[in-house]
Amino acid sequence: MTIETKNRKVLEFGSYQQACEYVADTIANLIRNRHQEGRGCVLGLATGATPAGVYKCLVKKHREGQTFAHVTSFNLDEYWPMNMINPQSFNTYMRSHFFDEVDMKIQNTYLLPGMEPLENIQQICSAYEDAIETSGGIDTQLLGIGRNGHIAFNEPGTSFQSRTELVDLHEQTRKDAAATFGGLENVPRQGITMGIATIMQARKIILMANGKAKSSVLYQALHGPVTEELPASVLQLHPDVTVVMDKECAAGFLK
Ligand code: PGA
Repeated sequence: MTIETKNRKVLEFGSYQQACEYVADTIANLIRNRHQEGRGCVLGLATGATPAGVYKCLVKKHREGQTFAHVTSFNLDEYWPMNMINPQSFNTYMRSHFFDEVDMKIQNTYLLPGMEPLENIQQICSAYEDAIETSGGIDTQLLGIGRNGHIAFNEPGTSFQSRTELVDLHEQTRKDAAATFGGLENVPRQGITMGIATIMQARKIILMANGKAKSSVLYQALHGPVTEELPASVLQLHPDVTVVMDKECAAGFLK
């Protein structure tokens, strides 16, 4: 089922796998179109359970001949402090799910660092913003949604004007990560994240949500008031958003 409004497409797929294939096809088409225009493409990438299947599909495409040699990527966020070689780091996630498996040039993969000392962070965040701008801006940003409505690590209450910065993680976010870290006490209390204003500058946003745990928050984000208390609701103000969900998410969502 597709529901389309002026600035938004909402797509329901029969399975998570189909949803991931759709997103991977969209990315491959973008790369092809940019290539035909004689330029590379800039992707905003996400981590977590939601996009893992998309990376699998993209790696499969690479094995079938798709090149990523002209792709630049910017990741949304990283825990802080976090050693980038730790299995829970988003740096590790990106290498193991995607970068090590395709032909992206490592110098074109931008990730936020987890181990920089506090006094360097502001400078690093503004350099990240500059790098996005210098790249020509993000063509397509992949996004998940947290159960509390966060996008990247922009937790409820974050200003819609926020830029890349060090933030405190919400208790819900830390609880949701506890199993991966072998207990809540091991989950970092902070993260470095692209800001909401940074994300909103992407020319196109693909918001993915799977499973019934995301239904009600996604519904609120798309149909409720636009409020900083629910960061994903800002996407109602974006000119080009595609929402991709599986049927479990849609079942609770479309009532
Ligand atoms: P998940 O996280 O994909 O692991 O559910 C999404 C998010 O918190 O943005």
